[in-house]
Amino acid sequence: MRVLGIETSCDETGVAVYDTQCGLLSDLLYSQVAMHADYGGVVPELASRDHVRKLLPLIREALQQAQTTATQIDGVAYTQGPGLVGALLVGAAVGRSLAWGWQRPAVAVHHLEGHLLAPMLEEKPPRFPFIALLVSGGHTMLITVEGVGRYNVIGETLDDAVGEAFDKTAKLLDLGYPGGPRLEQVAKQGNADRFQGRSRFPRPMTDRPGLDFSFSGLKTFALNTLHANEHDAQIRADIALAFQTAAVETLAIKCQRAIRETGIHRLVVAGGVSANRALRARLNHMAKKEQAEVAYPRMKFCTDNGAMIAYAGALRLQAGEMEPAEFEARARWPIETLTAL
Ligand code: KG4
Ligand code: ZN
Repeated sequence: MRVLGIETSCDETGVAVYDTQCGLLSDLLYSQVAMHADYGGVVPELASRDHVRKLLPLIREALQQAQTTATQIDGVAYTQGPGLVGALLVGAAVGRSLAWGWQRPAVAVHHLEGHLLAPMLEEKPPRFPFIALLVSGGHTMLITVEGVGRYNVIGETLDDAVGEAFDKTAKLLDLGYPGGPRLEQVAKQGNADRFQGRSRFPRPMTDRPGLDFSFSGLKTFALNTLHANEHDAQIRADIALAFQTAAVETLAIKCQRAIRETGIHRLVVAGGVSANRALRARLNHMAKKEQAEVAYPRMKFCTDNGAMIAYAGALRLQAGEMEPAEFEARARWPIETLTAL
C-alpha cells in the first residue's frame, strides 16, 4: 500500500510518500521558520497562508521524487489535530480533496500518534509495549503504548510544554527563534558550576510522587536569575546551560520513575525536544542503569514531518480505517480516544 502523507499542524509543511513494502519513497519539508522569526514566534494566520502557497507544489515534488503517479497512490493521510486550526484546515482540505478526486480512501492522523510512531521508521523499530516520552512545543507527556492506538497517558505537564519552556527561556535570553536548538547551542559555552546552592535551578515536581510535569516555574527562575546578574554573553550561556540541565534532569527522573512503576523497560522518545543531545545523553545514561532500551527517531523526524503522518496513516488505512467524504480540524484531540488497531 502506497500512502501520501500531509502534515500542516503548525509551521512546517511536510509531505511524504510511504510504501508498506518498499518503505519511505520521498519526504519533503518546507519550514516557515525564517518567516516567523521576524515575529519571535509562530503567527497562525501567516502559517495557514504559507501552507496554502507551498502544499500543492510540495505534493507534486514528493510524487515526482517517489517516481509515483497519482494512480499509484492507495490512500491519503493528513494531520487532523491537535494544532493550529487554520493550518490544519489547509492540509485536511487538500488531503481530503485529493483522495476524493483520486477515488482513494483518506485517513485523519493524530499528530502525536505520528510523533510517537516515528521511531518505527528506523531500521530497528522498538517493540511493544513501551513507554513514550513525548516532548514537543505543545506537549509533554508520558504514555504507555501497548500497540498502535492503545495509549494510556500516565503523566503530563500541568502548565508549559518543555519545548515551549525552551523557546520562552531562549527568548528572554535574546537567543532568537526557534529557541530550543539555539539554546542548546549556546549552552555549550556555559559554565556548569555557575549556579549552585540557593541559586541552583529547581527540578520541578521531582520531590513528590507522580509522573506529571511543570515547566513554567523553571522559565521564571531563569528570568529572575537573569535580572539578578549583569547581562553579558557568558551569563546567558550559563543560564542556558543551567536551564537545559534542570529540564533534562527532570525529564530523566520522571522517565526512570515511569520505568520502575510500570515495569516496562523500553522507552521511546519523540517530538521536537528529542533532538536535544543533552537529553539523549542523560536518558541513555539512565536507561543503562535501569537496564532499559531507549529509541529515538532519526534527527529530522524528531520535529514535524510528513513521513510520520504517512506511516501512521498507512497503518490505519491497512486496518480499514477511512474518513467520510468530509473533513474537520481539531485544535484539541485527546490521544486516549484513538481506536486501537
Ligand atoms: O514536534 P515539534 O517540531 O512541533 C510540535 O509539535 O510542537 O517540536 C518543536 C519544539 C519547539 O519548542 C523547539 O524549540 C523544540 O521542539 N526543539 C528543541 C530542539 N529542537 C527542537 N528543544 C531543545 N533542543 C533542541 N535541539
Ligand atoms: Zn509536532
